[in-house]
Amino acid sequence: MSKRLLVVFSFLIVASMLLGACGPAGSAGGDTIKVAILAPLSGPVPTFGVSTRDGILMAIEEWNAKGGVLGKQIEAIVADSQCTADPAVNAANKVIDQDQVHYIIGEVCSSASIPVSEIAEQKGVVQISPTSTNPSVTLNPDGSTKNYIFRACFIDPFQGLVMAKFALSQGKQTAFIMFDQGNDYVLGLAEAFEASFTAGGGTIVGKEAYTGQDTDFSAILTKVADSQADVLFIPDYYNVVNLVATQAKERGVTSTLMGGDGWDSSDLDLAAADGGFFSNHYSAEDTRPVVQEFVSRYEAKYGSKPDALATLGYDAANLLLAAIEKAGEDDPAKVKDALASLQYDAVSGTITFDEFHNPIKAAAIMQVKDGKVIFADSIAP
Ligand code: PHE
Repeated sequence: MSKRLLVVFSFLIVASMLLGACGPAGSAGGDTIKVAILAPLSGPVPTFGVSTRDGILMAIEEWNAKGGVLGKQIEAIVADSQCTADPAVNAANKVIDQDQVHYIIGEVCSSASIPVSEIAEQKGVVQISPTSTNPSVTLNPDGSTKNYIFRACFIDPFQGLVMAKFALSQGKQTAFIMFDQGNDYVLGLAEAFEASFTAGGGTIVGKEAYTGQDTDFSAILTKVADSQADVLFIPDYYNVVNLVATQAKERGVTSTLMGGDGWDSSDLDLAAADGGFFSNHYSAEDTRPVVQEFVSRYEAKYGSKPDALATLGYDAANLLLAAIEKAGEDDPAKVKDALASLQYDAVSGTITFDEFHNPIKAAAIMQVKDGKVIFADSIAP
């Protein structure tokens, strides 16, 4: 071998050793533990993304200040998944294939979390959705539980039951349901409410579908006004609720507006939705010390009270990091088992997972009143 070739070869060997030493941190021996955050920072519901990201980052910072997990600092990789299937799938593939993450926190929206869960399950990456409430997030089509997928929130059959029971307890006997046919969350929650409301003796006097692109609901709202339903159930996200509530007022609809966690946003139109009720995961008015301490730390850091998305983001990150610690190894196969048997005292309640990887937790009922969202009731499972 010529001297020159020898020099080139030795250079290549040294270079590959160096590269190996600081290769993808997800692999064993990396110097950080990477956690991906998939959140809708743009798209139809940006307040969901910002709150979720901020809650997760706060938890990660707190762990890092205490020395990280397994002696390593935690590195957050944030991707904008837009509450929509395609961008969410692209974001999931990117963080798994390029960034080599073993752990994903996200998405917020069920329609995005479901396709992401299929990728994470197939690639052996642990996914915990802070807020996606549709049952299919953690279930395979045959009803079996996905091994690697968890969530930090209750599910829509419970949320629908809670709102139906609440409506009936308020003396409401008739309901009109509006739903977005193409949104897994909205559709699932509408069905759950209908089943529980009728089982409890209520009557559904109208049911109308719309699409995610619709902005003019006047034709449906004319029917709602004619029906004189006690309740207009509109289980969509705040951006749609704002339009429907505003147009309902214009059409003289007198039904009490009700919905689910998707209403929870600093951008909810409080004037238009005045008098409405929605189910949620937590209330900042909860007097438990774990809640009040979290609320004041969050307020000090971000200058606003945490909504349910921030709180569940914080809880999801803590659950994941506690499970990594419990597993004792940066190995998603072990971490998923640690999560399945974890008990954790989270801000939104003490969390243990059932066989479907869903926490069993109480729901809060919130009322929109005089420009504020106030705690109305808490309903246990
Ligand atoms: N539960 C909603 C979904 O599955 C997401 C959401 C949770 C929105 C909490 C707001 C507050 O799509």
